Amino acid sequence: MTTHIIGELNPPNRLMLTPGPSSMDPRVYRALATPLVGHVDPWFRGCMDDVQLLLRQIFQTENRITMPLSASGSGGIEASVVNTLEQGDEAIVAVNGTFSDRMAVIAGHTPAKVTKVEAPYGQPVDPEDVRRAGKGKKIKIVGFAHGETSSGVITNIDNFRKVADELGALLIVDTVASLAAVPLDVDRQRIDICFSGTQKAISAPPGMSPITVSPQAEEVFRNRKTKVQSWYFDLTTAMNYWGKDRLYHHTPPVSLIFALREAMRIVIEEGLENRWERHRTNQLALIAGLEAMGLELLVKNPEDRLPTVTAVMIPSAVDDVKVRNQLLDEFNIEIAGGLGPLKAKIWRVGLMGHCSQKQYVLLFLAALEKTLIDQGFRLPSGAGVGAAIQSYTHAGAAAALSR
Ligand SMILES: Cc1ncc(COP(=O)(O)O)c(C=O)c1O
Repeated sequence: MTTHIIGELNPPNRLMLTPGPSSMDPRVYRALATPLVGHVDPWFRGCMDDVQLLLRQIFQTENRITMPLSASGSGGIEASVVNTLEQGDEAIVAVNGTFSDRMAVIAGHTPAKVTKVEAPYGQPVDPEDVRRAGKGKKIKIVGFAHGETSSGVITNIDNFRKVADELGALLIVDTVASLAAVPLDVDRQRIDICFSGTQKAISAPPGMSPITVSPQAEEVFRNRKTKVQSWYFDLTTAMNYWGKDRLYHHTPPVSLIFALREAMRIVIEEGLENRWERHRTNQLALIAGLEAMGLELLVKNPEDRLPTVTAVMIPSAVDDVKVRNQLLDEFNIEIAGGLGPLKAKIWRVGLMGHCSQKQYVLLFLAALEKTLIDQGFRLPSGAGVGAAIQSYTHAGAAAALSR
């Protein structure tokens, strides 16, 4: 067999203004590169305690089952539905984009009956439609995506909690794109299962899915008549490792756990409320800039806009891929295109965690202006950056007034 010499790894240094993964703070890279220890080493147990304490603060919960699953965000979806659903159960999933649809698809792999309640991409699902769909039925779970990353839409959790209460259902919320960027309080909002991803607003590497489970959901797990169809994602056995016994379940990604711990330390140092405000302010400046450049947003109602992902309509005269490639080649900036029915119709600009910064918003607007002009799109010179600066000035004045 021929020997192929492969060069040393040397990836480009991108600014990832994508809907995930986001760029990471240098402190997180340093934690990732610290020496490996064994997953049952007594020292590592203390590190696991730290991770659980940090996760509980970020989710705002006292839940016993709170841990990072060794899986990407999709693993969080899978764990949520396979632990709750069994033969004879009925589930309702509110679908308004690719990722909420994924919850319905994964639930469809269980023996339960799954009903999708849909809204057009770019809008949240109306909780009234969920109420109507579940009326007179025994519904086990109501699930939805708090932040629908494919279209940049946020959904109000409290309205869905109300409907789930009326239906006697557990509430499952996907916060992959919203945790640590958007107000969320798992205990106060009585979310039964809430999961996220490490690579978005927490700004740790991809590959883990923090999850938390209410005592009510734990009770449902205990009363199951059948085994959970997945051994790996059976949360009750996985908790033997993350619980007080620390019994071996599988070998977790130790280095990713180190990185997650450091990323969460950064979240707590900043403070959740400051972080929510930072995401809001930077998105408002981005939107002001985009609109001043003559671009339109997919999500028309400002209240429905997810602060971490802004969906921009691609002007008809402009080539989606050429623009994204130029941003990458000339400015080292990555943004994302649309998924499914929104492919080639929108760009998705992510301002998540470490990437939600004033300097990046202004840089991106300038880079986008240059790129659009090169692609033949006419726009008022400097309008985007100018409008964003004004937005920051107003936000600063408003903050000073409220102090
Ligand atoms: C809202 C939402 N849920 C689930 C997922 C799936 O996560 P992953 O790609 O990490 O498996 C994503 C990924 O972007 C997401 O945005």
